[in-house]
Amino acid sequence: MVVERKPLISGNWKMHMNHLEAIQLIQKLSYALEAADYASTDVSIHPPFTNLRSAQTVLDADKIPIALGAQHCHWEDKGALTGEVSASMLAKLAVRYVIAGHSERRQLFGDSDEDVNSRLKAILIAGMTPIMCCGETLEERRNQQAEARIAFQVEHGLAGIKREQVANMVIAYEPVWAIGTGQTATPSDAQVGCAVVRNKVRELFGALAADGVRIQYGGSVKPINIAELMAQPDIDGALVGGASLEAESFSRIVRFRLQ
Ligand code: PGA
Repeated sequence: MVVERKPLISGNWKMHMNHLEAIQLIQKLSYALEAADYASTDVSIHPPFTNLRSAQTVLDADKIPIALGAQHCHWEDKGALTGEVSASMLAKLAVRYVIAGHSERRQLFGDSDEDVNSRLKAILIAGMTPIMCCGETLEERRNQQAEARIAFQVEHGLAGIKREQVANMVIAYEPVWAIGTGQTATPSDAQVGCAVVRNKVRELFGALAADGVRIQYGGSVKPINIAELMAQPDIDGALVGGASLEAESFSRIVRFRLQ
């Protein structure tokens, strides 16, 4: 049986764009995309925290069906945690999707699998959808540890989460060696990684969760490679970094069926 999952294309802006640039980019995206695009594909953008309020206002005022996303959050609801932002603060700004466990957070800011798990739970409690990232480093890949690494991150990241919640969330398979390097995984490598994710979800949470969870591929996704990636059976979308910073390239990725 072929299971239909609506694709989700997400733009991870990382630490790019001030709020004025963000407004401009959103407006350009809204000119480039049409109702038919949103009908067939869910689209989210993940600007820096400082842009969320402005982005929300523009999306709302112009009725643009792009979902607002964030890149990170803390698991505590409030407290003496200088510099942090809570999930409930994001939910209040109509944020729908929150990335957790991006490899840059793991590598540069010491996010552990337990931290990622705590963030996921906070995001779910606040009524939003997590996009949990996983993926192996180049060294792990060379040592034939890629599959074990991905499965470990999925198991520990999702510990204690209900199967219905898993069915509705998003997991991004992002091989670390492909992020920002211009070196995309081949479609078949990307498929293998995404299949590892889905199989692990099936083993831990059952068929409904495995059929429901949307799995994105991330790592140097561009207009030129998106169609082939999306043709893979276990790839339900993309988490796009660099190519999401321009309306032209991001909208072409969203319209992958026309490539
Ligand atoms: P990239 O980033 O598309 O620039 O490789 C992807 C990501 O980090 O999510």
